[in-house]
Amino acid sequence: MGMRVPLIAGNWKMYKTRKEAREFARRFRELYHDTDIRAAIIAPFTQLDVLVETFKGSGIGVGAQNVHFEDEGAFTGEVSVPMLKELGVDYCIVGHSERRQYFGETDETVNLKVKKLLRESDIIPIMCVGEVLAEREAGVQNDVVFRQLEKGLDGLTSEEAGKLVIAYEPVWAIGTGKTATPQQAEEMCAMIRERISEMFGEDTCDKVIIQYGGSVKPENATEIMNMDEIDGSLVGGASLDPEKFMEIIDF
Ligand code: PGA
Repeated sequence: MGMRVPLIAGNWKMYKTRKEAREFARRFRELYHDTDIRAAIIAPFTQLDVLVETFKGSGIGVGAQNVHFEDEGAFTGEVSVPMLKELGVDYCIVGHSERRQYFGETDETVNLKVKKLLRESDIIPIMCVGEVLAEREAGVQNDVVFRQLEKGLDGLTSEEAGKLVIAYEPVWAIGTGKTATPQQAEEMCAMIRERISEMFGEDTCDKVIIQYGGSVKPENATEIMNMDEIDGSLVGGASLDPEKFMEIIDF
């Protein structure tokens, strides 16, 4: 954790109905107290308005899990940046490994989405990068993550890049209970920062929030959050329970 304000964001994935989201939000708002950490919930589209409303004035952020890069058009099933702006969300995940794996997200579409969000809204992109198990076993994890960074951030100005959140999520650690060791996570987050410095300059890399994600829970949050280069986390499973999620924020 450096000089940046860390962000701990709960990624609900495809969990919780509106009723469940409302119950969570009320309880979490009660539990939540100001810390030096920013907190946010990243929820399915249909639950976003419930969260925006329930969290109003609390300082708790709200985010979407995906967005399209066009304003409107014949794109059945998609949601655009203007639509998210209207809801008043603060963050949007781009390029989560599940979208890359199951829904055809590529570095090119990630790049279009990141640019669209940064240029036409105040919504902060949380861009996910990370290698799969075979890539780590082959020792090519750095090449993979650098390619995702270079292509995903292609064409951004330093000013734009400085607003980003990057989530390093080794795919083999997502939902598996298998966390990267704090050293592995720290090492990759440091390399990401160095690469951003090479691409956009030192001032920019000092501003970028770099999170770790993958099986973060109350039991391992302290070690992870205490690493110098890690500015927070993207929490899946453990963010579905308000008490557990608050415990992580209070690490
Ligand atoms: P997990 O998911 O915490 O359940 O491993 C993390 C993520 O996919 O963002």
